[in-house]
Amino acid sequence: MISDIEFDPIWGELHDRLLEELDYHHEAASIRRMAGLHEGVPEIVIPRVVEEATTRNVLTLEYVGGRSPEEACGDETDQELRDRWGVVLAEFVLRGLLEHRFLHADPNLANFAFLDDGRVVVYDFGSVKEVPEAMALRYAELLAATATGRGDAIPPILKEMGIFMRDGSLMPAEAVEPYLEIFGTVLRASPPYTFGEDPEIYRRVIETGMNNWQYSMDMQFPEDAIFINRALGGHFGNLARLGATGPWRDLVFAAVARLGVDTA
Ligand SMILES: Nc1ncnc2c1ncn2[C@@H]1O[C@H](COP(=O)(O)OP(=O)(O)O)[C@@H](O)[C@H]1O
Ligand SMILES: [Mg+2]
Repeated sequence: MISDIEFDPIWGELHDRLLEELDYHHEAASIRRMAGLHEGVPEIVIPRVVEEATTRNVLTLEYVGGRSPEEACGDETDQELRDRWGVVLAEFVLRGLLEHRFLHADPNLANFAFLDDGRVVVYDFGSVKEVPEAMALRYAELLAATATGRGDAIPPILKEMGIFMRDGSLMPAEAVEPYLEIFGTVLRASPPYTFGEDPEIYRRVIETGMNNWQYSMDMQFPEDAIFINRALGGHFGNLARLGATGPWRDLVFAAVARLGVDTA
Protein backbone atom coordinates (compact mmCIF):
# COMPACT_ATOMS: atom_id res chain seq x y z
CA MET A 1 0.00 0.00 0.00
CA ILE A 2 1.30 3.46 -0.85
CA SER A 3 1.13 5.72 2.18
CA ASP A 4 -0.11 9.25 1.99
CA ILE A 5 1.50 10.18 5.27
CA GLU A 6 3.72 13.24 4.88
CA PHE A 7 7.32 12.24 5.30
CA ASP A 8 8.89 15.63 4.57
CA PRO A 9 8.38 17.16 8.03
CA ILE A 10 9.42 13.90 9.67
CA TRP A 11 12.56 13.69 7.56
CA GLY A 12 13.34 17.36 8.22
CA GLU A 13 13.08 16.81 11.95
CA LEU A 14 15.28 13.72 11.87
CA HIS A 15 17.83 15.54 9.72
CA ASP A 16 18.01 18.50 12.12
CA ARG A 17 18.29 16.33 15.23
CA LEU A 18 20.91 14.01 13.70
CA LEU A 19 23.06 16.93 12.58
CA GLU A 20 22.96 18.36 16.09
CA GLU A 21 24.21 15.05 17.46
CA LEU A 22 27.41 15.47 15.41
CA ASP A 23 28.44 18.79 16.94
CA TYR A 24 29.82 18.58 20.48
CA HIS A 25 29.71 22.35 21.02
CA HIS A 26 25.99 21.98 20.62
CA GLU A 27 25.84 19.07 23.05
CA ALA A 28 28.02 20.93 25.57
CA ALA A 29 25.65 23.92 25.39
CA SER A 30 22.69 21.60 25.96
CA ILE A 31 24.41 20.08 29.01
CA ARG A 32 25.10 23.53 30.52
CA ARG A 33 21.53 24.64 29.89
CA MET A 34 20.07 21.45 31.31
CA ALA A 35 22.37 21.67 34.36
CA GLY A 36 21.27 25.27 34.94
CA LEU A 37 17.61 24.29 34.77
CA HIS A 38 18.24 21.49 37.30
CA GLU A 39 20.20 23.56 39.80
CA GLY A 40 17.32 23.34 42.27
CA VAL A 41 16.63 19.67 41.59
CA PRO A 42 19.02 17.70 43.82
CA GLU A 43 17.82 14.28 42.70
CA ILE A 44 19.08 14.84 39.14
CA VAL A 45 22.86 14.74 38.60
CA ILE A 46 24.28 16.10 35.34
CA PRO A 47 28.03 15.61 34.78
CA ARG A 48 29.91 18.87 34.23
CA VAL A 49 31.50 19.79 30.90
CA VAL A 50 35.30 20.15 31.10
CA GLU A 51 35.46 23.26 28.92
CA GLU A 52 39.20 23.37 28.31
CA ALA A 53 39.14 19.84 26.91
CA THR A 54 36.04 20.19 24.73
CA THR A 55 36.01 21.03 21.00
CA ARG A 56 33.61 20.52 18.11
CA ASN A 57 34.98 16.97 17.80
CA VAL A 58 35.71 16.08 21.43
CA LEU A 59 33.38 16.29 24.39
CA THR A 60 35.01 15.92 27.81
CA LEU A 61 32.88 15.49 30.90
CA GLU A 62 33.58 15.03 34.56
CA TYR A 63 33.30 11.31 35.38
CA VAL A 64 30.18 10.50 37.39
CA GLY A 65 29.50 6.80 37.81
CA GLY A 66 26.59 4.96 39.35
CA ARG A 67 24.75 1.70 39.08
CA SER A 68 24.11 0.67 35.50
CA PRO A 69 20.51 -0.07 34.45
CA GLU A 70 21.30 -3.81 34.65
CA GLU A 71 22.52 -3.44 38.24
CA ALA A 72 19.71 -1.08 39.19
CA CYS A 73 16.81 -3.06 37.77
CA GLY A 74 17.59 -6.47 39.24
CA ASP A 75 15.57 -8.14 41.99
CA GLU A 76 18.57 -7.80 44.31
CA THR A 77 17.93 -4.03 44.44
CA ASP A 78 15.44 -2.89 47.09
CA GLN A 79 11.99 -2.19 45.71
CA GLU A 80 11.97 1.06 47.68
CA LEU A 81 15.05 2.30 45.84
CA ARG A 82 13.72 1.28 42.42
CA ASP A 83 10.48 3.13 43.21
CA ARG A 84 12.43 6.28 44.06
CA TRP A 85 14.44 6.14 40.84
CA GLY A 86 11.21 5.56 38.91
CA VAL A 87 9.63 8.64 40.45
CA VAL A 88 12.78 10.68 39.68
CA LEU A 89 12.62 9.58 36.02
CA ALA A 90 8.88 10.27 35.75
CA GLU A 91 9.35 13.75 37.22
CA PHE A 92 12.35 14.32 34.96
CA VAL A 93 10.34 13.71 31.80
CA LEU A 94 7.29 15.65 33.04
CA ARG A 95 9.49 18.58 34.09
CA GLY A 96 11.33 18.60 30.76
CA LEU A 97 8.13 18.47 28.75
CA LEU A 98 5.88 20.79 30.72
CA GLU A 99 7.95 23.09 32.92
CA HIS A 100 11.36 23.57 31.29
CA ARG A 101 10.05 22.80 27.81
CA PHE A 102 13.51 21.49 27.10
CA LEU A 103 13.37 17.75 26.86
CA HIS A 104 16.12 15.10 27.12
CA ALA A 105 14.89 13.15 24.12
CA ASP A 106 16.92 9.93 24.22
CA PRO A 107 15.25 7.82 26.91
CA ASN A 108 17.46 4.74 26.40
CA LEU A 109 17.99 3.56 29.98
CA ALA A 110 21.74 3.30 29.27
CA ASN A 111 21.70 7.12 29.35
CA PHE A 112 21.01 7.02 33.09
CA ALA A 113 22.88 5.71 36.12
CA PHE A 114 21.51 5.18 39.59
CA LEU A 115 22.86 6.25 42.95
CA ASP A 116 22.19 4.56 46.28
CA ASP A 117 20.80 7.76 47.82
CA GLY A 118 17.98 7.82 45.21
CA ARG A 119 19.57 10.29 42.82
CA VAL A 120 19.75 9.60 39.08
CA VAL A 121 22.67 10.58 36.82
CA VAL A 122 21.71 11.72 33.32
CA TYR A 123 24.07 11.27 30.35
CA ASP A 124 23.86 11.94 26.65
CA PHE A 125 22.44 15.31 25.65
CA GLY A 126 23.00 14.69 21.96
CA SER A 127 19.27 14.55 21.44
CA VAL A 128 17.32 17.31 23.17
CA LYS A 129 14.09 18.91 22.12
CA GLU A 130 12.69 22.40 22.56
CA VAL A 131 8.99 22.07 23.29
CA PRO A 132 6.82 24.95 22.02
CA GLU A 133 4.69 26.43 24.80
CA ALA A 134 1.42 25.59 23.05
CA MET A 135 2.54 21.98 22.62
CA ALA A 136 3.41 21.69 26.32
CA LEU A 137 -0.03 22.98 27.23
CA ARG A 138 -1.72 20.48 24.92
CA TYR A 139 0.27 17.60 26.46
CA ALA A 140 -0.74 18.83 29.92
CA GLU A 141 -4.39 18.85 28.82
CA LEU A 142 -4.01 15.39 27.32
CA LEU A 143 -2.50 14.01 30.53
CA ALA A 144 -5.22 15.65 32.63
CA ALA A 145 -8.00 14.28 30.40
CA THR A 146 -6.46 10.80 30.52
CA ALA A 147 -5.98 10.86 34.29
CA THR A 148 -9.57 11.98 34.85
CA GLY A 149 -11.09 9.66 32.24
CA ARG A 150 -12.49 12.46 30.04
CA GLY A 151 -12.22 10.63 26.72
CA ASP A 152 -14.48 13.09 24.88
CA ALA A 153 -11.99 15.88 25.51
CA ILE A 154 -9.15 14.05 23.79
CA PRO A 155 -9.87 14.32 20.02
CA PRO A 156 -10.26 18.14 20.21
CA ILE A 157 -7.01 18.43 22.18
CA LEU A 158 -5.27 16.24 19.58
CA LYS A 159 -6.65 18.50 16.85
CA GLU A 160 -5.09 21.54 18.52
CA MET A 161 -1.81 19.63 18.73
CA GLY A 162 -2.00 19.11 15.00
CA ILE A 163 -3.16 15.49 15.16
CA PHE A 164 -6.30 15.00 13.07
CA MET A 165 -7.59 13.37 9.91
CA ARG A 166 -6.44 14.90 6.65
CA ASP A 167 -9.98 15.94 5.78
CA GLY A 168 -9.86 18.14 8.90
CA SER A 169 -12.08 15.94 11.06
CA LEU A 170 -11.21 14.89 14.59
CA MET A 171 -9.52 11.57 15.32
CA PRO A 172 -12.31 9.02 15.67
CA ALA A 173 -13.16 7.91 19.19
CA GLU A 174 -12.32 4.28 18.41
CA ALA A 175 -8.73 5.28 17.54
CA VAL A 176 -8.30 7.13 20.83
CA GLU A 177 -10.21 5.00 23.33
CA PRO A 178 -7.73 2.10 23.56
CA TYR A 179 -4.98 4.54 24.59
CA LEU A 180 -7.26 6.21 27.11
CA GLU A 181 -8.01 2.80 28.56
CA ILE A 182 -4.34 1.78 28.78
CA PHE A 183 -2.86 5.05 30.10
CA GLY A 184 -5.94 5.71 32.20
CA THR A 185 -5.28 2.39 33.94
CA VAL A 186 -1.76 3.56 34.80
CA LEU A 187 -2.81 7.00 36.01
CA ARG A 188 -6.04 6.10 37.81
CA ALA A 189 -5.12 2.84 39.55
CA SER A 190 -5.61 2.74 43.29
CA PRO A 191 -3.37 1.65 44.94
CA PRO A 192 -0.89 3.19 42.49
CA TYR A 193 0.05 1.25 39.40
CA THR A 194 3.21 -0.88 39.47
CA PHE A 195 4.95 -0.70 36.11
CA GLY A 196 5.85 -4.07 34.68
CA GLU A 197 3.34 -6.04 36.78
CA ASP A 198 1.04 -6.39 33.78
CA PRO A 199 3.05 -7.42 30.69
CA GLU A 200 -0.23 -7.52 28.76
CA ILE A 201 -0.30 -3.74 28.72
CA TYR A 202 2.68 -3.56 26.34
CA ARG A 203 1.08 -6.04 23.99
CA ARG A 204 -2.04 -3.85 24.04
CA VAL A 205 -0.07 -0.68 23.28
CA ILE A 206 1.57 -2.38 20.27
CA GLU A 207 -1.68 -3.97 19.14
CA THR A 208 -3.45 -0.62 19.35
CA GLY A 209 -0.71 0.96 17.25
CA MET A 210 -1.17 -1.76 14.61
CA ASN A 211 -4.94 -1.46 14.64
CA ASN A 212 -4.57 2.30 14.21
CA TRP A 213 -2.28 1.96 11.21
CA GLN A 214 -5.31 2.46 8.97
CA TYR A 215 -5.73 5.93 10.48
CA SER A 216 -2.06 6.80 10.31
CA MET A 217 -2.28 6.64 6.50
CA ASP A 218 -4.76 9.40 6.55
CA MET A 219 -3.84 11.67 9.41
CA GLN A 220 -1.67 14.67 10.21
CA PHE A 221 1.04 14.27 12.81
CA PRO A 222 3.24 17.21 13.87
CA GLU A 223 6.99 16.80 13.93
CA ASP A 224 7.23 18.08 17.53
CA ALA A 225 5.25 15.09 18.69
CA ILE A 226 7.70 12.54 17.27
CA PHE A 227 10.47 13.10 19.79
CA ILE A 228 8.12 13.90 22.65
CA ASN A 229 6.31 10.60 22.17
CA ARG A 230 9.62 8.78 21.89
CA ALA A 231 10.67 10.21 25.28
CA LEU A 232 7.33 9.43 26.94
CA GLY A 233 7.15 5.93 25.46
CA GLY A 234 10.77 5.21 26.35
CA HIS A 235 10.29 6.17 29.98
CA PHE A 236 7.13 4.08 30.12
CA GLY A 237 9.41 1.13 29.27
CA ASN A 238 12.09 2.31 31.73
CA LEU A 239 9.61 2.37 34.60
CA ALA A 240 8.62 -1.16 33.64
CA ARG A 241 12.25 -2.31 33.77
CA LEU A 242 12.56 -0.75 37.22
CA GLY A 243 9.25 -2.31 38.23
CA ALA A 244 8.46 1.01 39.88
CA THR A 245 5.41 1.95 41.90
CA GLY A 246 4.72 5.60 42.62
CA PRO A 247 2.04 8.24 42.99
CA TRP A 248 1.79 8.63 39.21
CA ARG A 249 -1.52 10.48 39.15
CA ASP A 250 -0.42 12.93 41.85
CA LEU A 251 2.80 13.61 39.95
CA VAL A 252 0.86 14.29 36.75
CA PHE A 253 -1.72 16.46 38.53
CA ALA A 254 1.01 18.51 40.21
CA ALA A 255 2.86 18.97 36.92
CA VAL A 256 -0.19 20.03 34.90
CA ALA A 257 -1.53 22.26 37.69
CA ARG A 258 1.68 24.30 37.46
CA LEU A 259 0.57 25.18 33.90
CA GLY A 260 -2.89 26.11 35.14
CA VAL A 261 -4.55 23.07 33.57
CA ASP A 262 -7.69 22.02 35.40
CA THR A 263 -7.88 18.50 36.85
CA ALA A 264 -11.24 18.79 38.61
N1 LIG B 1 30.26 11.82 32.49
C1 LIG B 1 30.20 10.48 32.49
N2 LIG B 1 30.67 9.77 33.54
C2 LIG B 1 30.61 8.42 33.54
N3 LIG B 1 30.10 7.68 32.54
C3 LIG B 1 29.61 8.32 31.45
C4 LIG B 1 29.63 9.75 31.37
N4 LIG B 1 29.08 10.11 30.19
C5 LIG B 1 28.73 8.97 29.56
N5 LIG B 1 29.04 7.88 30.32
C6 LIG B 1 28.80 6.45 29.97
O1 LIG B 1 29.09 6.28 28.59
C7 LIG B 1 27.95 5.81 27.89
C8 LIG B 1 27.89 6.42 26.50
O2 LIG B 1 27.79 7.85 26.60
P1 LIG B 1 26.65 8.64 25.83
O3 LIG B 1 26.81 10.09 26.15
O4 LIG B 1 25.34 8.03 26.14
O5 LIG B 1 27.07 8.41 24.32
P2 LIG B 1 26.33 7.69 23.11
O6 LIG B 1 25.97 8.80 22.20
O7 LIG B 1 27.38 6.79 22.58
O8 LIG B 1 25.14 6.95 23.60
C9 LIG B 1 26.75 6.17 28.77
O9 LIG B 1 25.68 5.28 28.56
C10 LIG B 1 27.36 6.07 30.17
O10 LIG B 1 27.30 4.72 30.60
MG1 LIG C 1 23.79 7.25 25.01
